[in-house]
Amino acid sequence: MEVKTKSLLDNMIGVGDMVLLEPLSEDSFIENLRKRFDHNEIYTYIGSVVISMNPYKSMLIYSPEKVEEYRNRNFYELSPHIYALADEAYRSLRDQDKDQCILITGESGAGKTEASKLVMSYVAAVCGKGQEVNKVKEQLLQSNPVLEAFGNAKTVRNDNSSRFGKYMDIEFDFKGDPLGGVISNYLLEKSRVVKQPRGERNFHIFYQLLSGASDDTLKKLKLDRDFSKYNYLSLDSAVVNGLDDATSFRTVRNAMQIVGFMEDEVQSVLELVAAVLKLGNIEFKPESRCNGTDESRVKDKNDLKEMCELLGIEQSVLERAFSYRTVEAKLEKVSTTLNVAQAYYARDALAKNLYSRLFSWIVTRINESIKAQAKTRHKVMGVLDIYGFEIFDDNSFEQFIINYCNEKLQQIFIELTLREEQEEYIREDIEWTNIEYFNNAIICDLIENHQNGILAMLDEECLRPGTVTDETFLDKLNTVCAQHQHFESRLSKNSKFLTDHSLPHSCFRIQHYAGKVLYRVEGFVDKNNDLLYRDLSQAMYKANHSLIKHLFPEGNPAKVNLKRPPTAGFQFKASVGTLMRNLQTKNPNYIRCIKPNDKKAPHIFTESLVCHQVRYLGLMENVRVRRAGYAFRQAYEPCLERYKMLCKRTWPHWRGPAREGVEMLMADLQVPAEEFSYGRSKIFIRNPRTLFFLEERRRQCLQDLATLIQKIYRGWKCRTHFLLLKKSQIVVAAWYRRYAQEKKYQKIKRATTVVQSYTRGWQARKLLRELKHQKRCKEAVTTIAAYWHGTQARMELRRLKQEVLNKHAVTVIWAYWQGTKARRELRQLKEAARNKHAVSVIWAGWQGTKVRREYRKFFRANAGKKIYNFTIQRIMQKYFLGLKSTLPSMSPIDKNWPVRPYIFLDGVHTELRRIFHLWRCKKYRSRFTEDKKAVYEEKLEASELFKDKKALYPSSVSQPFKGDYLEISKNPKYQKLNSSVDEKVLLADVVNKINRANGKGATRILLLTKKNVVLADQKTGQVKASVALPDLTSVSVSTQNDGFFALRLKEGSASAVKGDFLLSSEHLIETITKLHHIGSAASDGEQLNVDIADEFLVQFKQDKVCVKFIQGAPKNGNGASCKRKNNRLLEVSVPASA
Ligand SMILES: Nc1ncnc2c1ncn2[C@@H]1O[C@H](COP(=O)(O)OP(=O)(O)OP(=O)(O)O)[C@@H](O)[C@H]1O
Ligand SMILES: [Mg+2]
Repeated sequence: MEVKTKSLLDNMIGVGDMVLLEPLSEDSFIENLRKRFDHNEIYTYIGSVVISMNPYKSMLIYSPEKVEEYRNRNFYELSPHIYALADEAYRSLRDQDKDQCILITGESGAGKTEASKLVMSYVAAVCGKGQEVNKVKEQLLQSNPVLEAFGNAKTVRNDNSSRFGKYMDIEFDFKGDPLGGVISNYLLEKSRVVKQPRGERNFHIFYQLLSGASDDTLKKLKLDRDFSKYNYLSLDSAVVNGLDDATSFRTVRNAMQIVGFMEDEVQSVLELVAAVLKLGNIEFKPESRCNGTDESRVKDKNDLKEMCELLGIEQSVLERAFSYRTVEAKLEKVSTTLNVAQAYYARDALAKNLYSRLFSWIVTRINESIKAQAKTRHKVMGVLDIYGFEIFDDNSFEQFIINYCNEKLQQIFIELTLREEQEEYIREDIEWTNIEYFNNAIICDLIENHQNGILAMLDEECLRPGTVTDETFLDKLNTVCAQHQHFESRLSKNSKFLTDHSLPHSCFRIQHYAGKVLYRVEGFVDKNNDLLYRDLSQAMYKANHSLIKHLFPEGNPAKVNLKRPPTAGFQFKASVGTLMRNLQTKNPNYIRCIKPNDKKAPHIFTESLVCHQVRYLGLMENVRVRRAGYAFRQAYEPCLERYKMLCKRTWPHWRGPAREGVEMLMADLQVPAEEFSYGRSKIFIRNPRTLFFLEERRRQCLQDLATLIQKIYRGWKCRTHFLLLKKSQIVVAAWYRRYAQEKKYQKIKRATTVVQSYTRGWQARKLLRELKHQKRCKEAVTTIAAYWHGTQARMELRRLKQEVLNKHAVTVIWAYWQGTKARRELRQLKEAARNKHAVSVIWAGWQGTKVRREYRKFFRANAGKKIYNFTIQRIMQKYFLGLKSTLPSMSPIDKNWPVRPYIFLDGVHTELRRIFHLWRCKKYRSRFTEDKKAVYEEKLEASELFKDKKALYPSSVSQPFKGDYLEISKNPKYQKLNSSVDEKVLLADVVNKINRANGKGATRILLLTKKNVVLADQKTGQVKASVALPDLTSVSVSTQNDGFFALRLKEGSASAVKGDFLLSSEHLIETITKLHHIGSAASDGEQLNVDIADEFLVQFKQDKVCVKFIQGAPKNGNGASCKRKNNRLLEVSVPASA
């Protein structure tokens, strides 16, 4: 079972829930509050409503641990706390998807703002976490210090009094994580900007700025740190105990940054705050005009100048706006001067407007930052912290508005509380009888009624043409509201107040739900009109300051609107109406704040003050309504959980439905049936004493149970201890046994190892012995086998050897025998041969002797000749056989020949040499081809022609006769020449044609065919001369080593017209030989003569010229040179060969 901490009913100081108060009376109620207050129990419930007493001291009940304690716990489970209410609201928002609102009411200083902050911080602590969520939470929480700085002020009732109404909707997603929020603000008490009652201060921000801003910032804002320099700051309570303005300023700046204000926005805001302060210092003096009226003038223009500089306003424009007022009516514009009082009025109106618009802009700006981004449906928790009900000595329009708002809240409280109660009974199917209570709807009606309500009268008066003053307004009220039971006025038609001296003439009194409040009508009309001269708003619009411009849109001359703006009262009524409608759609959660004393001091409980609040808050009625039906209700499950120990059937576990369990419980406890009712989900207990009875039984039971638990616990503890000891003993024993067994085992193991080792040793040795024996046996067998095999082998060897020996012996013997036989035979044969030889020798000798005897007779007659012939024959035989083996090689040019052996063979020897040479030449020739043969024939012909006749010849022998030196058929240069010669060219060579005139040569191509000799130009290939071979008679050459030759033509022939040709060629021998050979063939066997002489005649045309060859000095290089000596002689000098 879950162990719980303190319960609502545990260790109760007084009664935690007033519904359980017994007996119920105003005294016991207040006594209960006091008792709890004295014991620092500042929260008490009336059912689900939380009464919060302001402790005026810091309490240790808001720690994170407390948050955890109250988190996810049922409302009545723990002692009363604002966290329980916050948790209930948050959980039903998150889990039941019900929009919630937290309505915090109470008079000024009762702790509403603190309570709202506690609720917000609790929700922030218990809802989801994460970077984005934390940022949203931080922004929502940090919006408070900013709004408090600009909207709170010290009043006589509260050092941090909210001077505006605030309603904040916090939006959550389906998981219960905050998404953002929207703040609505209600009517700031702006009159405070220009004037504060005694003992009060202006809004905190002015003091915070002057105390906390750096010197530099102040310089920029043209401000002085000294509060006394500013008319708008009251001095008597400039410093508030427990408030550190300088630190607060830093907190505010930091909060503005977190909320998302840009640096330039913060600067603009501070400039406006500074401007308001400066504005308060502007003073006016009268200046008489000629028409006798006074006109206001700015006294000291320095502050005006500085203010204009701060806001970027042209000084003259503002100055004029303080002296003149322009009224526009239809198309007319009328300018009137302002007197000093009007100028001050205008100045203050501007300051108030400036500040209140700045405040509204700040709220809008915060809303921009904190608005939820997601477009999905949100769950909403609204927290309403509105200025509390106020009764001052001097109450004006502001208090009237504030108290009206509180009336409306009271109204909604009454309505919703009763409705909720009523609805619960219907929901739970419980019988319900109506309860009487004071309904303040009548007061609300007095104020807000459309036709004759005070606000409607005020508006009517403000809009009425003619002279309208506060007095005319009061007159109207006196007429219209005279009969209203909550309206009191000295001059009303209701005569009962005529003598009431507590009612001044210029005042009216309203009996609010929270008490009577006397309102002075002075300023009602003005404040309701809330007019700012158009000149001023236009001056502001002209400012070169974006924020100021933005705050005064009506100053835009392009958008002049002649329609009157709605009055302040009208606007407030409308916004309160919207707020109420909004609250009615949500599930309400109430925190009723009570102020224990007027001194803002801890531990003081002023009974009369508390009593007054208890009364006007209708708390007693609240309790009565709650108790009229049933004093206490609880869902079946927690009820069963709490009291199940009172019945044996339900203790310790009840298996069935919770309701049946509770029924069982009640029946068992014999609670009278009229004391309770069973609802659908809850049990309703009519009297608190029944609950106390249950609680008492529970307390007793708890004691028994505690004893039982103690007993069981002790038993359990002893048993656990015993079991632990037992377990430990088992563990120890187990460990010891294990240790002993381990040791025993080790010992046995060692012994076993020894025995094992011995056995194994013995077995091993046995085995070794056996193996050795086997090995020896095997070795013996092997040895025996080896010996046996050896013996066998040796025997075999011996046998084989013997066999071989025998064989060898046989062979040897055989050989010996054969040898002996052979030798014997040889000897015999030799003997026989010798004998035969001897016989034949003897025979031959005998024959010789016989022949010689015979032949002797013939020999003597023919022997000499025959021996000679025989000897000659033998010599010739030997000579030829010797020659055969010493013959020289087959080369025809080999000159070797064996030496002749006998002189008488000289002729034969030479002849044989010749024959051999001819034979080998024949052999050599027989190997020739036809071409080679022709070449050799030509060479032979050349030798026949020139050998030993011309000195040039020997050098030509080794040169092959090539014939076509110019390769005329292949060379494309001579293609034309070749084609002009029809026959086959047998010789083509370059020759020099000697000119008779100077003996110099001109190159010509000489072609020789079978029929012609052709001379052609070497360069052009053109035929110069063509001589038919039969026309050639002879060729003349010298005997010397030169290439000159003359072709001599047949006289009378066609070719001879130009005469003979004297030519020189490098291949003279070949040319002449070929010419001779072909020429002879061409002229039908007639020989072409070759004349070889050193002087011959050459026929040049008609002349015969002698060509003479002389031997010149040896010369290097080219051969012979030809010179003309005279007409008849050409001399060719041939160098002698070296
Ligand atoms: N729970 C609390 N614990 C400690 N001090 C508290 C608590 N509640 C209120 N106070 C003290 O009481 C002062 C006034 O409280 P708070 O400003 O909340 O009053 P209020 O009801 O909002 O008044 P007003 O209507 O003038 O705004 C606080 O400044 C604080 O000093
Ligand atoms: Mg407040």
